[in-house]
Amino acid sequence: MARIIDGTAIAREIRAEVAAQVAQLRAEGTVPGLAVVLVGGDPASEVYVRSKTRACQEAGMHSRLLQLPETATREELFGTIDGLNADPDIHGVLVQLPLPPQLNAKEFLERVSPAKDVDGFHPNNVGRAFVGDPQGFVPATPAGIMELLRRERIDTHAQHAVIVGRSLIVSKPLASLLMAPGANSTVTLTHRHTVDLAQYTRMADILVVAVGKPGLITAEMVKPGATVIDVGVTRVDDPSNPRGYVIRGDVDFEAVAEKAGAITPVPGGVGPMTIAMLLRNTITAAQRVHD
Ligand code: GUN
Repeated sequence: MARIIDGTAIAREIRAEVAAQVAQLRAEGTVPGLAVVLVGGDPASEVYVRSKTRACQEAGMHSRLLQLPETATREELFGTIDGLNADPDIHGVLVQLPLPPQLNAKEFLERVSPAKDVDGFHPNNVGRAFVGDPQGFVPATPAGIMELLRRERIDTHAQHAVIVGRSLIVSKPLASLLMAPGANSTVTLTHRHTVDLAQYTRMADILVVAVGKPGLITAEMVKPGATVIDVGVTRVDDPSNPRGYVIRGDVDFEAVAEKAGAITPVPGGVGPMTIAMLLRNTITAAQRVHD
């Protein structure tokens, strides 16, 4: 039976470390501040945004939530971002995705000042992450996965890491981090057009799945003893649950847990780490202004 990696407990440790750094910065006159921009009322986004602002407050940081209507125009969102870029009380600015269909995310991610882009989605930071420049911001989810591996003492050196999915938010930056000097993994990136996915996943010492298809990864697709990191978060209808749905990852957890060496659950695996790393990026942004 695999060791279950407790992302909630590890994230709690990181958040305590962040709170100590916040206290230090506050004592020196800087209150780290994060602004979250939410356009429209996507229910999943509302939950994420509330978790982010609550985590900020618990760490002693300042947080501001700016809500724009579903019908917001391009000019309105540009204006909101420009105001936050210029606001000295705000060190991190995040535009929650997805945006309503009339708004093209790319334009707005490029509008956020790279120095306040704690999501790491601005092309400037994407490029810095790719070349391994520590002045950039690394997106919170891949940074959280690396931190989970480190704190669980899962060696990445010369291991074969197979990533399923090719997103800018998770898979591409994670591939960079895993192959970088210090991590030294051999990385294979697969996606929806990969022929015979199982052929690759079975070779993985570390298997990371970030697709959003519940049950995609079955036990037959996993090498015995592998580390399995499940990034999937999908709401699946379940009338027997009081909320009417349950959250499922991309991995058939019960079956794979019998074969893997270590595995992250959903919820309680990667998700809590993402928020902890977002706080950490915001501290870094505040620290740079403070210094
Ligand atoms: N939507 C889903 N994940 C994320 C994220 O990490 N950042 C932002 N801004 N929006 C998201």
